[in-house]
Amino acid sequence: MNTLVSWIRNEEDLALWSGNTFRNGFSAGKMQLHLNRTDLDSFAYLDKKKNLLCYADIVKKEKKTGVLCRVIVHPDHRRQGLGKTFCKDLLNWAKDNGNYLRIRLNTFGHNKAALACYGALGFHTVSVEPKCRKVRGELQDLVVMAANL
Ligand SMILES: CC(C)(COP(=O)(O)OP(=O)(O)OC[C@H]1O[C@@H](n2cnc3c(N)ncnc32)[C@H](O)[C@@H]1OP(=O)(O)O)[C@@H](O)C(=O)NCCC(=O)NCCS
Repeated sequence: MNTLVSWIRNEEDLALWSGNTFRNGFSAGKMQLHLNRTDLDSFAYLDKKKNLLCYADIVKKEKKTGVLCRVIVHPDHRRQGLGKTFCKDLLNWAKDNGNYLRIRLNTFGHNKAALACYGALGFHTVSVEPKCRKVRGELQDLVVMAANL
């Protein structure tokens, strides 16, 4: 919990990672409550010393559709392929264990890392809501992406 909290250094980090989920602020306590939600499965990669490397949720939505949310990679280990490997594992889990046929997600149009990561895994853009949400004072596009499993 505390490791995850330490990765969120400011409002922009919080918005990029979690959209509106923690709109009233983020803390280890709020994350603990979040993990009690019954409509989602949470996933993590840990290193050999059991330190957190990656975290994400898959939320159960309409029948057979899951929503990939709150994907994050340790800030010191980004751009090394970890995000792609982690999300690929999650898609495999969604297909084989979650019984999902489709995964969708939302991301911001200026989140180049997320767009590249999801695009490389076969997600395509379903729609774009232009200038939908303010991040650090600037209105950003919200991109909805989906992949069939
Ligand atoms: C988005 C995130 C999970 C990607 O994880 P990562 O481990 O850095 O990604 P990878 O190293 O697997 O790279 C995946 C692709 O994204 C590209 N990429 C990664 N960071 C990038 C950046 N800052 N700018 C442009 N492209 C980037 C890589 O080059 C790679 O592209 P390729 O498949 O063409 O080689 C990570 O940046 C992160 O935790 N961001 C903060 C939280 C966040 O924004 N989450 C997304 C919520 S929707």
